Amino acid sequence: MTKPIRIAPSVLAADFAKLGQEVRDVTAAGADWIHLDVMDGHFVPNISFGPDVIKSLRSYTDATFDCHLMIAPVDPYLEAFAKAGCDRITVHAEAGPHLHRSLQTIRNLGKKVGVTLNPATPLSVIENVLDDIDLILIMSVNPGFGGQKFIPAMTDKIAAAKALIGDRPIDLEVDGGVTIETAAMIGKAGADVLVAGSAIFKGGSVEAYKATIAALRDAASGLQA
Ligand code: DX5
Ligand code: ZN
Repeated sequence: MTKPIRIAPSVLAADFAKLGQEVRDVTAAGADWIHLDVMDGHFVPNISFGPDVIKSLRSYTDATFDCHLMIAPVDPYLEAFAKAGCDRITVHAEAGPHLHRSLQTIRNLGKKVGVTLNPATPLSVIENVLDDIDLILIMSVNPGFGGQKFIPAMTDKIAAAKALIGDRPIDLEVDGGVTIETAAMIGKAGADVLVAGSAIFKGGSVEAYKATIAALRDAASGLQA
């Protein structure tokens, strides 16, 4: 049975001066998960926000907090993100030498466990941790910035990840350059969670967010003409 498509707006593209309201608006517009991009200016060449900001957003929505940690080292901060209210925590396979330990730490904190791969990182690095994860996030741009173009070679990688997952209860999420135009091929390749930042937030109103989220969902589900 195919899983329903879930849409995870990335607040990286939201108006940071009214982040709470943006999270509330995008939830009202049909977001399934709220994607939280944490950047440290070290693992990636940009800085965003940390656990205190996430904690202050928690009361603005009941939607799942899907936290994407682009930080290294990551292990010393996992507990803070769990306590801040993240429901799912995703770490980069490239962020440290002990991926399995990071994944176990997230599991022991009682959160859903995700692993993500930069565009150049082969899927083989996660072959031995498939029993330890709930989610694979395929980066379809180089992490650090919103508004980049989807890297075409990632379509085959999504399909390969889908095959690798097989019958396992693992979600397949795609992040970077997701638009109404690219969503159809991303869904066709097998993704079931689509992150979108600029495509959604450029709308600037709840009505626009709603239309884009619905269009992304339809396109990825193969419902669009
Ligand atoms: C990039 C982030 C993405 C980013 C996506 O490092 O992980 O979540 O916000 O932005 P768009 O949807 O604009 O490509
Ligand atoms: Zn992200």
